[in-house]
This record gives sequence, C-alpha cells and structure tokens, in this order.
Amino acid sequence: MEHFVYQAMPSRVVFEWGALAQLPAEVERLGARRALILSTPEQRALADEVARVLGERAAGVHAEAVMHVPVEVAHAACDKAASLDADCCVAVGGGSTIGLGKAIALESSLPIIAVPTTYAGSEMTPIYGLTEGRLKRTGRDLRVLPRTVIYDPSLTMSLPAAVSVASGVNAIAHAVEALYAEDANPIISLMAEEAIRALGEALPHIEDRAMRSRALYGAWLAGTCLGAVGMALHHKLCHTLGGTFNLPHAAMHAALLPHTAHYNHSAAPEALSRVARALGGQGAEEAGALLYALNRRLGIEPALARIGMPEAGLDEAADLACRNPYANPRPIERDAIRALLQKAWEGAAP
Ligand SMILES: NC(=O)c1ccc[n+]([C@@H]2O[C@H](COP(=O)([O-])OP(=O)(O)OC[C@H]3O[C@@H](n4cnc5c(N)ncnc54)[C@H](O)[C@@H]3O)[C@@H](O)[C@H]2O)c1
Repeated sequence: MEHFVYQAMPSRVVFEWGALAQLPAEVERLGARRALILSTPEQRALADEVARVLGERAAGVHAEAVMHVPVEVAHAACDKAASLDADCCVAVGGGSTIGLGKAIALESSLPIIAVPTTYAGSEMTPIYGLTEGRLKRTGRDLRVLPRTVIYDPSLTMSLPAAVSVASGVNAIAHAVEALYAEDANPIISLMAEEAIRALGEALPHIEDRAMRSRALYGAWLAGTCLGAVGMALHHKLCHTLGGTFNLPHAAMHAALLPHTAHYNHSAAPEALSRVARALGGQGAEEAGALLYALNRRLGIEPALARIGMPEAGLDEAADLACRNPYANPRPIERDAIRALLQKAWEGAAP
C-alpha cells in the first residue's frame, strides 16, 4: 500500500528570459526597501548591474562570497547587512553566493531573494552549510529558504560550457537520489524524472539559448527535489570528499554519479529504471552506464584522479563515507565503497 508524507516549501518562483527586470517589483512585494546584494568577487559586475536595476532599493553590494561559506566570511557579511540596515538580501550567483545569503538569514532572519546563475539548486532548499576549519556543518532551517527565486536563463549564458555541464550533472544527482530516497513521495518523484529528462536533453546543446532555459528549468526541479527529500550515498560521498579533500563541487558530483547509481542499482531497481527511462534508455541499459555515457558525451572528466583526489586518500574517504552513513537503499559496505572509489578515481566505467 502506498504511503508517504509530502511537505510543500513556501517559496515563490519567477521564471522567464529577462526576469531580472522584475526584481524591483519582487523586492517591493516583500515590503523591503534596503536590499543588500551578494555575489562572488568574480561576479561583481553582475552585482553592480543588479544594484542599478534596483535603484534606490539597493542598500549596497557585498561581493565577498566564496565556496563553502567559511564562518569568518559569514560574520563579515552579517556585519555588513547590519551596518547598512538592510531589510533583505539579493543573492546573485551560484551555490556559494546563495549559501552566504543563507548564513545571513540564519542569524538575522532577513528574507532572501535568490537569482541563481548555476544549476546547483541551493535556492530551492532550506539547507545551509558553514565551514569552520576543515569541518563543514550543515543544517535545515526554514528561515534560510529563499522567499523568492528569480530564474533568468540569460544570466547563465556567461557560465562556460564545461562548468555548465558539470553543474547540470550535479543537479541530475539531486534528482537521482530523490527517486530512491527513504522519504520519497509521488510529486517529488515526478519532478525528479522530469528534471533528469530536461537536463539530459539540454546539456549536450548547452550553447543554445533554448537549451539554456531548459537546463535551468531542470535545475529548478532538481533543486526542489534536494530541498524536499533526504539524500543518500552519493551526497554523503560528495560531502566527505568535498570537505576533506577540497575537490571542486560540481566536477566531483559528475564523476561519482555513474558509480553511486550503479552501486544502488540492485537495491532500487525501479527508481533507477526511471532514471534510465528519463535519460532515453531503451529498456536493458542501466542508469549508471547511461550516466557514464552522458558524462563522456559532455566531455566531463571521469577520473577523480584528474580533479585533485590523491590515491593515498581513498582508504580514508571510504572510512569516512561509512561513518554515520545517510539512509541508502543498499547497505553501506566498506569494501564495496572502496572499490567504487577506486573505479571513480581511475575514471573507469561503473
Ligand atoms: N545548501 C544547499 O542546498 C546547496 C545546494 C547545492 C550546492 N550548495 C553549495 O554550493 C556550492 C557550489 O555552488 P556552485 O556549484 O553553484 O558554484 P559556485 O557558486 O561556487 O560558483 C562557481 C564559480 O562560478 C562563478 N559563476 C557562477 N555563475 C556564473 C555565471 N553565470 N557566469 C560566470 N560565472 C559564474 C561563481 O562566481 C564562482 O566563481 C558548494 O559549496 C555547495 O556545497 C548548497
């Protein structure tokens, strides 16, 4: 008998080519008058453009976001928001910038308007992360869920194709794990399948304007999946490798995904056949093999060895992945995880 719990997230989504022009109206809708605009140093020019669009509702620009939200960077941003008497944050960029907005919201409850420019999906989740030393602490809190998300595909055109496709496969990973999540539910599973279909179609043609829009649509759905249900082995491994070995976030997700999908295949055959179907598989093909083929078609580096993972770290990574494991369809077996990591390190097919 079917049983599930479905909890909708209270956020407003505006999706349109050129939607950035609607930002002043969306700030006004929140009743805010002094927006602090956040970005990374690399996207400062875009943040300045956003300030121009906002006019007198822009209180200032803080272009200091960096990967994984170090606590000192979060404190400085909170101080800036307080000193400018900001009453909302506009986070323009990828997961790092939206993560900085979440750190401010966690401390001050300021509402966030997110304007995502990658496919990472943080804008749709109540999940935050803060890094102190080598340790990344994550948590869930509805105060950090952006109130409004403005998806403007034109802002993703500047994301280089190689970065875009890795970011897109990072989004696919959220949807794959949503399909076999312990707390999976029918609505999120539909979204997950549609996310994989949209991203699988769009990523091979990512230079095309229409496909940019389709990829961002897929990223929205995938981000919704990430925010709604629990993630499993794949996200645990990425969390471990990202935190301890400082590997690039999206590239690491992309390299590992075929292997984690293969690992879970026998324990979650129905979920993974939905993945295969969404990727255009014709029946017998396994999701892990199709994801590996997709990576190859997209020119994604398959070997963790080539993105900074030391071979000497594989044993430690396997140990860490087995410690406090997330719920996963197949039990976490240390030797099998070590073998999975070896294959991913070499870039071999799953
Ligand atoms: N809390 C969550 O729910 C959640 C979800 C997904 C990711 N994350 C976090 O987000 C971070 C990764 O985010 P990411 O993969 O989006 O990378 P990112 O935000 O670090 O961006 C990578 C680089 O690309 C640049 N960039 C972004 N968009 C661009 C564009 N359109 N044109 C040109 N340059 C652009 C950025 O300025 C940055 O220099 C990780 O720390 C991850 O843990 C959190």
